[in-house]
Amino acid sequence: MLNKKITKLLIGTNNKGKLREIRDLLPINIKTYCPKDFKLKSPIENGNTFEENCLIKSKYFSNKTGLICIADDSGLEIDLLDKKPGIHSARWGGKNSDFKKAIKKVYRELKKKDPNWKKKKIRARFVCALSISYLNKKVVISKGKVEGKISSKPKGCNGFGYDPIFILNKRNKTFGEMKPSQKSSLDHRYKAFKKIKKFL
Ligand code: IMP
Repeated sequence: MLNKKITKLLIGTNNKGKLREIRDLLPINIKTYCPKDFKLKSPIENGNTFEENCLIKSKYFSNKTGLICIADDSGLEIDLLDKKPGIHSARWGGKNSDFKKAIKKVYRELKKKDPNWKKKKIRARFVCALSISYLNKKVVISKGKVEGKISSKPKGCNGFGYDPIFILNKRNKTFGEMKPSQKSSLDHRYKAFKKIKKFL
């Protein structure tokens, strides 16, 4: 279906943090667009998995613009919270995607489950599903994960979302404390991207 080299690509997200990170992963010769360039709001994500939701976005934005679209659906799974917030990670920030609010909710829910959680290793992982679609057709889809634990307090101000509370295994730093170039060479988005890079 994509027998011509991709020269233009829509990045199907209205999340500024994700937009920056996906743009940084793409080859520089590809001209990128975002939904804002077309005054498009995001579709309702009513899938049950990261994969379903990223396909909803990549197909929706491609249909609306006629451009090939790459979209991601991602989130944080916390084992003690039965993998929540998971696909609802953005929604925990409320209508205005307030990440401070989302982090407070994580801490509140952890305390409800176990008042002593700060003394324990709270296993968590970031998951990212990435898809490329052209109109209503899926071109490719992939998934990446990184394992880690929850920090008992937010640390660092780089990145976005839950970055200040996620400590990657074998590192003593949160994603929020890492330089953007370091995070983007080892995170869930990068791992998913590596698998579909040959399509770009
Ligand atoms: P959605 O994929 O647009 O539904 O939103 C995913 C949500 O998961 C984001 O709004 C963030 O809250 C969170 N998230 C996904 N990836 C990352 C990441 O790399 N760092 C921090 N938070 C993330």
